[in-house]
Amino acid sequence: MKVLEVKDVKMYYEIPFRGYVKAVDGISFSLDAKESLGIVGESGCGKSSLGITLMRLLPSNGRLVNGQVLLDGANIYDLPEDRLRKEIRWKKISMVFQGAMNALHPIIKVGEQIAEAIMLHEEMSKEEAWKRAGDLLELVGISRDRVDNYPFEFSGGMRQRVMIAMALALNPAILIADEPTTALDVIVQAQILRLIKDLQEKFGISLILISHDVSVIAEMSDYVAVMYAGMFQEYGSAKDVFLNPLHPYTKGLLSSVPSVKGKPRRLASIPGAPPNLLNPPKGCRFAPRCPFARDKCFKEEPELREVEPGHFARCHYAEELRGVEWNVR
Ligand SMILES: Nc1ncnc2c1ncn2[C@@H]1O[C@H](COP(=O)(O)OP(=O)(O)O)[C@@H](O)[C@H]1O
Ligand code: SF4
Ligand SMILES: [Mg+2]
Repeated sequence: MKVLEVKDVKMYYEIPFRGYVKAVDGISFSLDAKESLGIVGESGCGKSSLGITLMRLLPSNGRLVNGQVLLDGANIYDLPEDRLRKEIRWKKISMVFQGAMNALHPIIKVGEQIAEAIMLHEEMSKEEAWKRAGDLLELVGISRDRVDNYPFEFSGGMRQRVMIAMALALNPAILIADEPTTALDVIVQAQILRLIKDLQEKFGISLILISHDVSVIAEMSDYVAVMYAGMFQEYGSAKDVFLNPLHPYTKGLLSSVPSVKGKPRRLASIPGAPPNLLNPPKGCRFAPRCPFARDKCFKEEPELREVEPGHFARCHYAEELRGVEWNVR
């Protein structure tokens, strides 16, 4: 049995009198123990919405309108909230939220914030929780005597380490890390990614890494999903997706990344912006920005198809465009 199975999940935000923002619109995938899935796409494509949907932490206007999220075979949307809180959330599946390192209370001691978070979910004395906070700091490479420091005494990288420590406090099987290195400088970014990778291997965690940054995803993931307008547009092994991108959107994303190896190339980028998900475009949602779009693309919505073994793309012309490079200037 897979650790996590996501089946045709749709999560919409209700906007009174206007309709629904289709932030997560028919996502399916599964994850085994120790595997990592990278989810990449521009800002506004629904990545964070998918993350909170997997945690069943929807805001008041968020609605699961279709699908299932199966953890060890049980749909978390069928469980009563108190069981979810006691047995599942943070214990089986955990998340480092986008931007959370800036949400640490600046003038409450780091140790106290970690201890409080632990005690919310596990019966433990204050002394035990403080000791565990020290252990967790050491786990993420911070000396345990810094429990008495305040977040304002920590660098951005250290605060992100604290968030990772908190997410791992109850030994989850699955960790979702949403943009964990965004806003950190390149060197610290590399250190944080290394830390996540090391912890993943040490504890055999299944990792879902979310980033708008292709190079972050490329370095860290066994499998890659390219998300656009609430949907996976391409899915496959990291090697297949990055070396042989099938979907024009993936080609566009990759063309905006400087290539480390191989021939130098001019950096292209994708003109325009992702669509408003209150009224997504008809047909292929990428059509208004796609240099390869034809009439059919504006009329018929493509399905996510297995174009090559284990390699899926949501494009009518994936076969024809195989090997064709993004060439917009
Ligand atoms: N609580 C909310 N209510 C309405 N719309 C929302 C809410 N949260 C996010 N959105 C919208 O959902 C879409 C997807 O957002 P998000 O999941 O944050 O994307 P990403 O993480 O890929 O940047 C965006 O259009 C965003 O404005
Ligand atoms: S279906 Fe058409 S518009 Fe959509 S990605 Fe493929 S070629 Fe482009
Ligand atoms: Mg996000």
